[in-house]
Amino acid sequence: MDAIKLSLGPFQGITDAPFRNVFKRHFGGIDKYYTPFFTGIQKDHAKNMQVEEIDPRYNDVETLTPQILSTDAEEVLRFASQCKELGYKEINLNMGCPFPRVANKKRGCGLLPYPDKTDSMLGTVFERIDLKFSIKCRLGYFNPDEIVPVIEVFNRYPLSELIIHPRIGKQLYKGEADVQRFAELMPMIKAPLVYNGDIVSVESFERIREQVKPVNEFMLGRGLLANPFLAEEIKGGESHDLERLHAYVVDLYEDRLRHAGGSPKVLGRMKELWSYLMNSFDEPQDIWRKIKKINALREYEEAVETVFREHRVI
Ligand SMILES: Cc1cc2nc3c(=O)[nH]c(=O)nc-3n(C[C@H](O)[C@H](O)[C@H](O)COP(=O)(O)O)c2cc1C
Repeated sequence: MDAIKLSLGPFQGITDAPFRNVFKRHFGGIDKYYTPFFTGIQKDHAKNMQVEEIDPRYNDVETLTPQILSTDAEEVLRFASQCKELGYKEINLNMGCPFPRVANKKRGCGLLPYPDKTDSMLGTVFERIDLKFSIKCRLGYFNPDEIVPVIEVFNRYPLSELIIHPRIGKQLYKGEADVQRFAELMPMIKAPLVYNGDIVSVESFERIREQVKPVNEFMLGRGLLANPFLAEEIKGGESHDLERLHAYVVDLYEDRLRHAGGSPKVLGRMKELWSYLMNSFDEPQDIWRKIKKINALREYEEAVETVFREHRVI
């Protein structure tokens, strides 16, 4: 199982720097991380790049790839040169975001129906970029054939990797990932390929791995948010342990609280994580009912203690 490489997909509002650092302290199995996407890099040394999220004092530049959502080659290059200055080795372009307010502006997966536009952007980027450049995309925005001409475009450039999440944008995160379609596309693609979608257990991992052989890089998503032991389990390590899970949840909360100067705004992000993590427990809906309505720190702390006292990890 040594050859398998696992990464954690970016989640806007969840997998921020405190999350990534705390996760790494408590769990193994993840080889690579991505930041949730940056946008609006209007100038060199942009304000939104002067943040902990990308500051090398809080991040490991060797295993973290910053992501950008853009269709403007100049903005991508600006982002790339600032990331390079900070010590990063690679950036990733988001061509997967499915939300209509993004995709309707031909951004995220909304760029997939426009191979010519993609080509001209990548042409400019690759003339001048001096660090590794990868792309994360879906099968299309409206239909799963849109990716075919885009693959021809991708093949003209030395992408460091191509991560494909085999859904279309219109599905958002619903329905199933089309593993079969991913497998059909594999022979057409030159870039090192990474599979992402619906890996929620060792069983689903093994099933998907069998279908996409010889791909050996996989990005985990909601499956890992729900079960933080998943990467360890896939790599043959230990499995569920209530104490470790408890320590992780408390550490993440305290770390976020410290970074937010004690502000209750951390509750939003913790609740968002719980909307996935509840699935690690018996009676997830009971737990969610308790947690979702909370809006004071003290209440949250008590609810978490109750969950770990009264519920079992499954
Ligand atoms: C709330 C939310 C936020 C996300 N934010 C990002 C993001 O910033 N960049 C990105 O490339 N993907 C983002 N994703 C997609 C995930 O990284 C991942 O590709 C997706 O959940 C599919 O994998 P899964 O089926 O294993 O969960 C987001 C998904 C969700 C549900």
